[in-house]
Amino acid sequence: TRRFLVGGNHKCNGNKESLKSLIEALNCANIPPKDTVEVVIAPPTLYLDYANTQINRDRFSVSAQNCYSESKGAFTGEISAEMIRDLALDWVILGHSERRHIFKESNELIAKKTKHSITQKLQVIFCVGEQLSDRNANNTEKVLDEQLHSLSTALSVEDWKNIVIAYEPVWAIGTGVTASPQQAQDAHVYIRKWLAEKVNEKVSSETRILYGGSVTATNAAELAQQSEIDGFLVGGASLVAASFITIIQSVS
Ligand code: 13P
Repeated sequence: TRRFLVGGNHKCNGNKESLKSLIEALNCANIPPKDTVEVVIAPPTLYLDYANTQINRDRFSVSAQNCYSESKGAFTGEISAEMIRDLALDWVILGHSERRHIFKESNELIAKKTKHSITQKLQVIFCVGEQLSDRNANNTEKVLDEQLHSLSTALSVEDWKNIVIAYEPVWAIGTGVTASPQQAQDAHVYIRKWLAEKVNEKVSSETRILYGGSVTATNAAELAQQSEIDGFLVGGASLVAASFITIIQSVS
């Protein structure tokens, strides 16, 4: 069975003070046990070390939001998977739609970053998702196919145990327009079918697929009931302790 996972992607938001309050609230929150729901927060890079020293690491994990494909070198502004490991962190988010569309990261670069991160023993939340124009042109499956294809060519079959997929339709991110439970379920079914056909049945049944895009304290419970939704990647609502805690609780 796939353990539920809720991730909070802070993106480029907050400061040390707001992060401190959020972590204090999480540390004393009444949430289901870790074997029911795993919780990962991804603050901005500058606060990763601070977050990891403040948070209850028996219950929560801290994730980076991105990293580069190389170990070290002349790559001004980048961080490496090795550095994330050096801070004793286990997670990185890669291929977020904002990295793909604002920062023009290609499928190939994201696949390379993912392979390198897994080599460094990181767990990767690998994001996929179509834009509104893709959906309107009936190209959702084609886009998911391309995004997953470049990933699978970079990975060995064993690598997949370190991957969590986050399906985040771009039109639902930060817009307040959540995918309906059925729309999310359909995309997750497609991704799971893809994994069964292109990787294998075991990877298909064991890989967690999160939904992301305007998840709130109000809509999380209904989405969580869909059989193929194994958790959430939450943006805006993960910055508000009460909302994020309600979303974590929505699983049980
Ligand atoms: P919102 O929850 O703010 O729509 O963001 C979703 C997201 O991009 C999480 O990675």
